[in-house]
Amino acid sequence: MLKDIQEKIMQLKKEKDICILAHCYQSHDILEIADYTGDSFGLAQKAAQSENKNVIMCGVRFMAETVKILSPEKRVWLPRPEAGCPMAEQLDTDILSQLKQMYPDYAVVAYINTTSELKTLCDVCVTSSSAVKIIKKMDADKILFIPDCNLGDYVKKQIPEKEIRLVNGGCPTHARISEKDVVKAKALHPDALLLVHPECKPEVTAHADYVGSTTGIMDFAAKSSADSFIIGTEMSIVQHLGIDHPEKKFYALSKDCVCHNMKATNIADVLHCAEGSDGEEIVLSQEVMTKARACIDEMLRLG
Ligand code: 13P
Ligand code: SF4
Repeated sequence: MLKDIQEKIMQLKKEKDICILAHCYQSHDILEIADYTGDSFGLAQKAAQSENKNVIMCGVRFMAETVKILSPEKRVWLPRPEAGCPMAEQLDTDILSQLKQMYPDYAVVAYINTTSELKTLCDVCVTSSSAVKIIKKMDADKILFIPDCNLGDYVKKQIPEKEIRLVNGGCPTHARISEKDVVKAKALHPDALLLVHPECKPEVTAHADYVGSTTGIMDFAAKSSADSFIIGTEMSIVQHLGIDHPEKKFYALSKDCVCHNMKATNIADVLHCAEGSDGEEIVLSQEVMTKARACIDEMLRLG
């Protein structure tokens, strides 16, 4: 039974001094047993603050690596080793080194959805909720933004005074949402507000009433006086919002917006990881941790 599994996990958390962090794209039963749930920026902040000796990161690999880099003394686990983020692996250090040679006077800003190796070559990290704020605050006026060209395009429009160069990468999950989906959803739900994630294509975000991170979308829907919303991000957010606000209505902008990597982890995987019978402990070299930490620290300082 689900309740029994959740109770066992809660008990193991106490016995083994475990903190469970869960990204809001995780299933509802996982969010219920987590110590903190939120967007990538919130998770990074909590990772830096948590006092437990052990952390289970319910999300994808780059998130678990971020926790390890911020808390090298802690043992950090990813319940399902195959839970990666395809966008994080689109660029490697060779390509980025070449790009840096081509644009030597540009500061390199990395979306946090990147590998820790890639972060060792970057000046600062950003998340979807902190990108505009951080880039505005940076001294540099010339920015090479990697790897999400959709988030990059959104940021560029908010900060026209800076020269922002983009590369051709992005989230394959959000890329499945098309402008046609917007036209269809608006025709079906003409009074609903459209809330979208900046990882969506520019022709989708152009129609939005609100553009923001996963936590941003959830907060907007909670505070808004409107009673119906079309949600342009991973499907799980539609379910979480429906559970949190049954008096309001939430519709998925596209039923194809499902991140199979985020869905790789289920509640039984979290139990096995807490028991110590499954999951991968994150191990990174000291050199990678030290170099990658500089750009994550810079994100936390500016964000
Ligand atoms: P945020 O949680 O920062 O909104 O990012 C969404 C995402 O796609 C994480 O992989
Ligand atoms: Fe990566 Fe996109 Fe999945 Fe987030 S939703 S983990 S960016 S593939």
